[in-house]
Amino acid sequence: MRLLVTGAGGQLGSDVVAAASAVGDEVVGLDHRALDITDRDSVLGAITTLRPDALINAAAWTAVDACEADPDRAFTANAVAVRWLAEGCHRTGAHLVHVSTDYVFDGSLDRPYHEWDSTSPRSVYGASKLAGEHEALELGPAAAVVRTSWLCGEHGSNMVTLVRRLAADRVGHAGALAFVDDQRGCPTFTADLASMLRRLALDRRAGVHHVTNQGAVSWYEFVVEILRASGHDPALVRPIGTAELDPPRPAPRPANSVLDNAVLRAACLPLLRDFRDGPLQELVTKLS
Ligand SMILES: NC(=O)c1ccc[n+]([C@@H]2O[C@H](COP(=O)([O-])OP(=O)(O)OC[C@H]3O[C@@H](n4cnc5c(N)ncnc54)[C@H](OP(=O)(O)O)[C@@H]3O)[C@@H](O)[C@H]2O)c1
Repeated sequence: MRLLVTGAGGQLGSDVVAAASAVGDEVVGLDHRALDITDRDSVLGAITTLRPDALINAAAWTAVDACEADPDRAFTANAVAVRWLAEGCHRTGAHLVHVSTDYVFDGSLDRPYHEWDSTSPRSVYGASKLAGEHEALELGPAAAVVRTSWLCGEHGSNMVTLVRRLAADRVGHAGALAFVDDQRGCPTFTADLASMLRRLALDRRAGVHHVTNQGAVSWYEFVVEILRASGHDPALVRPIGTAELDPPRPAPRPANSVLDNAVLRAACLPLLRDFRDGPLQELVTKLS
């Protein structure tokens, strides 16, 4: 497969390039400097020149709180740019796999969200990503949208890297770290997700897919697991409620971010592993 990866310098994009290269795909990974996806001429030029079989879009403006203050920038990068990518794919016949987020939901359901649940984003970031989904899905059977959550990878800033940095400074101080216990989701490891994105591209799968590692936890519970996996005392962290965050974050987060991977199950595709059965420890080892 000849694969084009946009956002290739990011946490997920770099692992998509690595996963596809490892299985022998012909991969071109373009980072933000090499291709700004908001530039329509450059996007159309790149796609028509490279003529990939599939394009995996891992580029996005992911600064969730900053998006609140600059909706134009958020919608340009996360929605309008996807229109240019879809246009390029339409011209060349490339299959588009576009990455989206749990933040398209408001988090009020009392069960995991499946692919057909109503979306209702609470933040500018979530709204811009939802608009990007619509742009991708305009391609019909030539596009898949993959919603994922709580990404952690070797090449990014994420909860694993944050907790390890904080813990190293506060050894021996029980309760020194405080994380919320009333927001739940599925931590997802980019190395695992990358392989599934590549599979969906190869199969030219269409429509919305939820793809996460298995294992739903609160942020507090996830931090306990990270501390354990890193050889730190889990008593370093204490649970708090979102209302106790001081100052509160500009963008509201969904309380329930758990995504049911219903389409993968129905299509008899393998679910990603439970994050406690390898992925977390593997990432900790890579970071050590
Ligand atoms: N991180 C999470 O927890 C999470 C959860 C759910 C879904 N997602 C989704 O997963 C995808 C990958 O996220 P990630 O964690 O890998 O984020 P990331 O590390 O921030 O990577 C995104 C990449 O996109 C690049 N980018 C931004 N604007 C661009 C533009 N106009 N043209 C080209 N590249 C651009 C960024 O480059 P610069 O940094 O140089 O601007 C960055 O390298 C995104 O679609 C995100 O919405 C992420």
